[in-house]
Amino acid sequence: MSRLAVIGGSGFATMPGLEVLDHQQPDTPYGPPSAPVIRGLLGGTELWFLPRHGTGHGIPPHRVDYRANLRALKDCGVERVVGLGAVGGIGGAYGPRVLAVPDQIIDYTYGRAQSFYDGDQNEVLHIDFTRPYCEDLRQALLRAARDCELDVEDGGTYGATQGPRLETAAEIRRLERDGCDLVGMTGMPEAALARELGLCYACFAFVVNWAAGKASGEIRMEEIEANVAACGARIERVLATLVRAQCY
Ligand code: HPA
Repeated sequence: MSRLAVIGGSGFATMPGLEVLDHQQPDTPYGPPSAPVIRGLLGGTELWFLPRHGTGHGIPPHRVDYRANLRALKDCGVERVVGLGAVGGIGGAYGPRVLAVPDQIIDYTYGRAQSFYDGDQNEVLHIDFTRPYCEDLRQALLRAARDCELDVEDGGTYGATQGPRLETAAEIRRLERDGCDLVGMTGMPEAALARELGLCYACFAFVVNWAAGKASGEIRMEEIEANVAACGARIERVLATLVRAQCY
């Protein structure tokens, strides 16, 4: 059985139903992770949990130390990681409250520490990133959603933007021309760093708003919050099912 971790994003600073066993704070060469890593039991199965934005959700996407987070999980012995992410929907099938397991990424972020191989160890690594997500874990997430009889979009391209502001309508039109279906601020460099460490990583995305210009008017925070809340119970069910079926 491989050790599974969930990195919680917006709306998921805690893992509902997790019976906490202990907190671990591995010190990494990059500093501490966003919060202590929680080791617990979800329905009797061991699970690690790390809130990406810190315990009080105070770390914005461009300030998350993605290297420290992934390194800390690796040091806890974790082998598989689900990155939860609230996203905006660009394409038709990806409206608010849709759950999705994307299969591609385009990275529009900048100024983030993108690699563990920054030249300081005199070593260069070029990971293969043709398929940025671990297909085994993607399929396990899709199976878990189907076992719960929940609709989930299989695939889609995640456009990772810098944030913390939301995009302009023109930026979203550009992402759409590029082929993005979803837009979020935390998908990269998380996925690439996981690959560098040999972790099996997949993104479980939930749409909390139409991306800029895709609906009339401005994007309202109350709308995002309501959609986060509306997705919560389904996400919990899928994760609980995934953890139970860990022998995938
Ligand atoms: N853009 C970027 N990130 C997001 C969005 C968005 O519209 N919604 C939730 N995260």
